[in-house]
Amino acid sequence: MPEDGAMRFADHMYFRHDARAIRGAGDTTGERLSPTRRSTVMRQRSGNQEPEPAVVFDKVSFAFDAHVVLRDVSFAIPAGGMTILLGASGSGKSIVLKLILGLFRPDSGQILVNGRRVDNMRERDLLSIRADIGMLFQETALFDSLTVAENVGYRLYEETDTPERDVRRRVQEVLGFIGLAEYIDTMPAELSGGQRRRVAIARAMAAKPGLLLFDDPTTGLDPITATTVDDEIVKLRDLEHVTSIVVTHQIRDAFYVATHRAVRTSDGVHVGAAEGTTAWRAAEFIVLHDAGILFEGSASELLASRDAYLKEFLFMTLPPW
Ligand SMILES: Nc1ncnc2c1ncn2[C@@H]1O[C@H](COP(=O)(O)OP(=O)(O)OP(=O)(O)O)[C@@H](O)[C@H]1O
Ligand SMILES: [Mg+2]
Repeated sequence: MPEDGAMRFADHMYFRHDARAIRGAGDTTGERLSPTRRSTVMRQRSGNQEPEPAVVFDKVSFAFDAHVVLRDVSFAIPAGGMTILLGASGSGKSIVLKLILGLFRPDSGQILVNGRRVDNMRERDLLSIRADIGMLFQETALFDSLTVAENVGYRLYEETDTPERDVRRRVQEVLGFIGLAEYIDTMPAELSGGQRRRVAIARAMAAKPGLLLFDDPTTGLDPITATTVDDEIVKLRDLEHVTSIVVTHQIRDAFYVATHRAVRTSDGVHVGAAEGTTAWRAAEFIVLHDAGILFEGSASELLASRDAYLKEFLFMTLPPW
């Protein structure tokens, strides 16, 4: 459901207003939830079945020489859910994603992806883990010499023996999903920044991965284009039930995806603000700070936090300052 910029700004102001109301009520529950408490919360939210977490960090430490990036970090990412990873520049968000992919190895601790340890896995076996992960890198690197179709189908062409006809069909399908079907045979240079980002999302999802990692999907985009990218991320969660980890600097986009839902109706797919209490449960947040997890919980719990750093981090983004 397209909205205008003023409406979305109003949305954001609503969160700020609401946050004050919640803070006023003195609700600080959920702050620094332990992984155990978190998985209990997820179990309660998803009925009684507890799906195996898609990703587990168990006391993970990682440093570049003397520079400690993560110290004894533990969390669990529930399968089928969305986790939004926030933190200042340099707090280790991209490193977390690269550890999941096995591109870096931790100095200590264990990392499980779909129940398998990747922290000590051989490179050959990591390939099968990565085959089920779609990654949108921070620096969206489309291959400029390849068409949109070749970019999106790249992994299917290179890493599988899927017949060309079927790759083309899947490419058409994912481009349709992100609203860029008519650009299938164009070159990346002919696309805007936002369109390139959406093509990169299509590429990440083309091989139907179970886990999608988005590293700063909306930075550098205007708010309206950013919302089209947010909507794709919401659709993947609600219509395709993909597990996703969304790293972002954009507080507005983080709360947008956490509070919007995609529904399919007879006249198409609509993304709109989720109503009622469910509005706060579409995503879980993790905030990294000082080489550790400063906060873990829902959007409303994050807004209700009394932590001075979090308050500054969240509320310095819009006037009144
Ligand atoms: N290849 C590298 N060699 C040395 N240090 C690195 C390397 N990559 C990252 N770092 C350091 O690790 C820390 C965490 O980096 P990371 O890229 O995870 O930050 P980030 O949270 O993703 O930041 P941003 O929001 O700016 O993308 C930073 O202090 C960075 O300087
Ligand atoms: Mg980064």
